[in-house]
Amino acid sequence: MTDWISSPAGPLRGEISVPGDKSISHRAIMLAAVAEGTSHISGFLEGEDTRATARAFTDMGVRIEAPRASERIVHGAGLHGLQAPIQSIDCGNAGTGMRLLAGLLAGQSFDSTLIGDDSLSRRPMFRVTGPLNAMGARIESAEGGRPPLHIRRTSGLWGIRYTPPVASAQVKSAILLAGFYAEGETIVEEVYPTRDYTERMLTAFGWPIEFTPGRARLSGGHRLRATDIDVPADFSSAAFFLVAASLVPGSELTLQAVGINPRRTGLLSALRLMGADICESNPRSLGGEPVADLVVHHAPLRGIDVPIELVPDMIDEFPILFVAAASARGTTRIRGVAELRVKESDRIAVMAKGLQALGIAVEETPDGAIIEGGKFTSGEVDSAGDHRCAMSFAVAGLLARAEVRIRDCANVATSFPGFVELANGAGFAIAA
Ligand code: S3P
Repeated sequence: MTDWISSPAGPLRGEISVPGDKSISHRAIMLAAVAEGTSHISGFLEGEDTRATARAFTDMGVRIEAPRASERIVHGAGLHGLQAPIQSIDCGNAGTGMRLLAGLLAGQSFDSTLIGDDSLSRRPMFRVTGPLNAMGARIESAEGGRPPLHIRRTSGLWGIRYTPPVASAQVKSAILLAGFYAEGETIVEEVYPTRDYTERMLTAFGWPIEFTPGRARLSGGHRLRATDIDVPADFSSAAFFLVAASLVPGSELTLQAVGINPRRTGLLSALRLMGADICESNPRSLGGEPVADLVVHHAPLRGIDVPIELVPDMIDEFPILFVAAASARGTTRIRGVAELRVKESDRIAVMAKGLQALGIAVEETPDGAIIEGGKFTSGEVDSAGDHRCAMSFAVAGLLARAEVRIRDCANVATSFPGFVELANGAGFAIAA
């Protein structure tokens, strides 16, 4: 069990780069693996989640070279060139890995099994197996629609027109990837638009796709042509620093080349409503994605009612928003986020309990929380093995009266290897 102690420190100053985007890194490996030709990926996230995805494809016969950290050269096997894996494919902690792989493997001419760690083994998979099976896939799950997923070869898939009942880019992407192998058209329509990386990357790999926010449409039977992908820095990793630098007096921090796809930056809008001083400088495009340097100056925050329409665009940022709300003046109300209960942990419960242990008044509701701003005392909190909760509590420690012990932090390596070193270099005081 890896525990951290995060102590009061700061201010945060300087210029830092956070690692590559997790969502884009998963997709880059997957599409390059079934493309024709050799793709170069730079800025690849060297996290456990994305490495597990790369391993899945080497297990299926794809040659992937790693000439340097954060670089991959993928020798694509083509749409029908994957080989049957000898063993179960271990997705580790990665929901994105498992759900997108389920879509891609649904149309293969071999059987496969997807497994994961304890946290992933508790997460709902029916949201992907349901629509994939409706496309003709034969995927069986364990009780309650949980992993492992046994994917049987089929005689063919057919297209579907589908509206996911929960806002989920993973569900949308799994269906689109299965759509490669389907006869006819596959259309996904969303009530609330979610991140569109699969759609954008398909265009880069030359697969015809039409998409607008909330709708994507493709047909099967085309080819993916290898391409080069530059992965921008992950907004979700930048988020811990955006909040920390906003909250610690005297801070002035620049985060370089962060991906600012509008489907990811809901937290920026929420923090600005709370009074944050964050500006986007040097906006540009990297590998077809909008990026900018984010410059944060300290500014006192005030509580808000988080607008429900921002939820899908900040779905991964609620743990750190809880910390921002706990340090803001007044009350913050969060609703419409029941989905947080089935992330890497029950993030509403884990954050509420942790903040309460640090002296903050938090009322948990079935689909959110009501948080009264205050001052963190010292204490001990449990991240429940959830990377984003662990890093959020590290920010709380930075602002506390005395040290905060954070339990079970090893999974930070799934999304943010080097977090402790980078954070300490910017002004945190984390002992790991
Ligand atoms: C992701 C989609 C989101 C997000 C996850 C990454 C993706 O999950 O929480 O961290 O890469 O598509 P849902 O699709 O379950 O909302």
